[in-house]
Amino acid sequence: MTRILLLGGTTEANLVAQALAKAGLAAVYSYAGRTEAPMGQPIHMRVGGFGGVEGLQAYLKAEGVTHVIDATHPFAAQMSTNAVAACKAEGVPLIALERALWVAGEGDRWTHVPDLPAAVAALAGPPQRVFLAIGRQHIDAFAAQPQHSYLLRLVDQPTGPLPFPAEVVVARGPFDVAGDTALMQEHGTEVVVAKNAGGKGAVAKIAAARALGLPVVMIDRPVLPPRAVVHSVAGVMAWLGA
Ligand SMILES: NC(=O)c1ccc[n+]([C@@H]2O[C@H](COP(=O)([O-])OP(=O)(O)OC[C@H]3O[C@@H](n4cnc5c(N)ncnc54)[C@H](OP(=O)(O)O)[C@@H]3O)[C@@H](O)[C@H]2O)c1
Repeated sequence: MTRILLLGGTTEANLVAQALAKAGLAAVYSYAGRTEAPMGQPIHMRVGGFGGVEGLQAYLKAEGVTHVIDATHPFAAQMSTNAVAACKAEGVPLIALERALWVAGEGDRWTHVPDLPAAVAALAGPPQRVFLAIGRQHIDAFAAQPQHSYLLRLVDQPTGPLPFPAEVVVARGPFDVAGDTALMQEHGTEVVVAKNAGGKGAVAKIAAARALGLPVVMIDRPVLPPRAVVHSVAGVMAWLGA
């Protein structure tokens, strides 16, 4: 019997969950547990880390998982790397749903940086109004550039002190261009820092930056181990033979 583990936490994973439910397949949606109230799903859910590669291997065995779908965020490199290793060790087939990269087009003013430390370094210089649009988890490093006025958009209201003073907007995507343009205008944003997430859910800020003529510090994706990849929910379902 098919038993699917869907590694989620993204808009794309939510769409896969809907397709799995519609097809009547036995599947569990896995959240890391980063947000206070994860979105409900039409399939079973579990929340929290597995305990590294070994923990994931134990989970796959205990639950009799027959297929793993990695639909995590392209920057969730640890989870994706663990999934490749655990599935290989247990002989469980794995497919990754990857989003196409965002590519700079006419009117875009991007500076590509390879990783977070390089993004921090790219902000050296006089004070600016910075929309730091990278979520909550990895903002600490930007305390090294405290001269800026930061705008953060977070899923949850921060419970503790932030590593630097910042204006916080609490909101959950997907976002739209009109809303993001208005947000940046209100804040007086002069530069945007973003991860090259790809996909539609977070692209509005990139389109808004283009419309406003603002520069973007674009963080390139981390490199992942080789794995089988599809680029659409239909591709995932075809891989499942559903
Ligand atoms: N990174 C981003 O920018 C970003 C943006 C939007 C959404 N997300 C979502 O947020 C979650 C965490 O992302 P991350 O960047 O913190 O991941 P990460 O750095 O790759 O993962 C760190 C650890 O968190 C646990 N984990 C991550 N994703 C999990 C999942 N879907 N189910 C169960 N455990 C998970 C695993 O713990 P164990 O080793 O204990 O198994 C993993 O080793 C993912 O579901 C991702 O899709 C991430």
